[in-house]
Amino acid sequence: MNFKEDFPMLRDNLTYLDNCATTLKPNSVIDEVSNYYRNYCANAHRGDYDISRIVDDKISSVREKVRKLINASSSSEIVFTSGATEGLNMVIKGFFKDYLKAGDEVLTTKAEHASLILPWFDVVNKNGAIINYIDLEDDLTVTMDNIKKAINKNTKVISLAHITNVIGDVRPIKEICNYAHKQGIIVLVDGAQSVPHEKIDVKDMDIDFLTFSAHKMLGPTGVGILYGKEKYLKQVKPLIEGGGMNAFFDSLGNVEYKELPEKLEAGTQNIAGILGFGTAIDYLNELGMENVHKYEVDLKKYMVEKMSKLQNITMYNEKIKNGIVTFNVEGVFAQDVAAYLNKKGICVRVGNHCAKILSEVLGVKNTCRASLYFYNTKEDVDKLIEALDNDNILYESL
Ligand code: ALA
Repeated sequence: MNFKEDFPMLRDNLTYLDNCATTLKPNSVIDEVSNYYRNYCANAHRGDYDISRIVDDKISSVREKVRKLINASSSSEIVFTSGATEGLNMVIKGFFKDYLKAGDEVLTTKAEHASLILPWFDVVNKNGAIINYIDLEDDLTVTMDNIKKAINKNTKVISLAHITNVIGDVRPIKEICNYAHKQGIIVLVDGAQSVPHEKIDVKDMDIDFLTFSAHKMLGPTGVGILYGKEKYLKQVKPLIEGGGMNAFFDSLGNVEYKELPEKLEAGTQNIAGILGFGTAIDYLNELGMENVHKYEVDLKKYMVEKMSKLQNITMYNEKIKNGIVTFNVEGVFAQDVAAYLNKKGICVRVGNHCAKILSEVLGVKNTCRASLYFYNTKEDVDKLIEALDNDNILYESL
């Protein structure tokens, strides 16, 4: 594979280090999206004509690719959403809102993204359940000991990211599920930052609900996946009703929903995006998720080694084994660092990264984040390090 040829945006002199936010797209994905609009642009599950059937078949085949990617038991456990955010809202508001009673407890952490925290605030405000935060270690990781300490007889759900989007710490999901299930606790996992970067096996890990987004793994924006064990997924109430998800309704208000997964996919889906996502999965499968992960871990190691030689940099997650390096430049506001790097053609994300409660434990509100994907190179890292090795960043950001 030649990444410079496969990814049009890599042809320019761009150093793209914001892969936690979204990834670049290969030509094969762009072509698949365009092919749909150019050659068989029909709606799915509605048309009794050939091109509509082609679309139906292609969507089913993408669902099956997703099933295989995460090793779900059945493709009916794979629901297309608009992204991880929608998936989390669907589970928290469409299932847990009724499932939890006043006094029941939700366990999460202060390192989570807004998409996972805000829907819980809404639910607990309405039904009297309580949110508790698992203590984080000094290096901001979650340990089984702290999870065990946080669980009590009222704990009904543990809701957390597999890999967080600022620190990038990897939670022991298999152990968490194993322990939680023995206490009758359900586990909801935000996989937005893990599914794109390593092999996830929902059966082996015994995950109850998992959400992730296509655009963070080479696919188009506006597509995501909600996975749920069938016994739970079928209890999720649709937040949105409309065409494609009902089997029957009459003037008296009687409504019968379709079975999973259609029940949770009201309206016309992002068909082009779903088809493009299938091609993105093909690309990742060709690379091998284990290889993607290993490459990123090695490249991060290289970046940490180089960055640790710079006197003006504080890193917050150098020991964590994945492709995220979160740092600050001494005496320079993170936004100014981004403006300075932008002038040199380097894209990083700065700010609170939508994880606004993290500052309560991290001690700083804003950080700079360089996040890698398999197409990044040592040259990209060298360019970042060379740019940061400068005492005049503040002055030159203006
Ligand atoms: N959640 C994405 C990020 O961390 C947008 O940048």
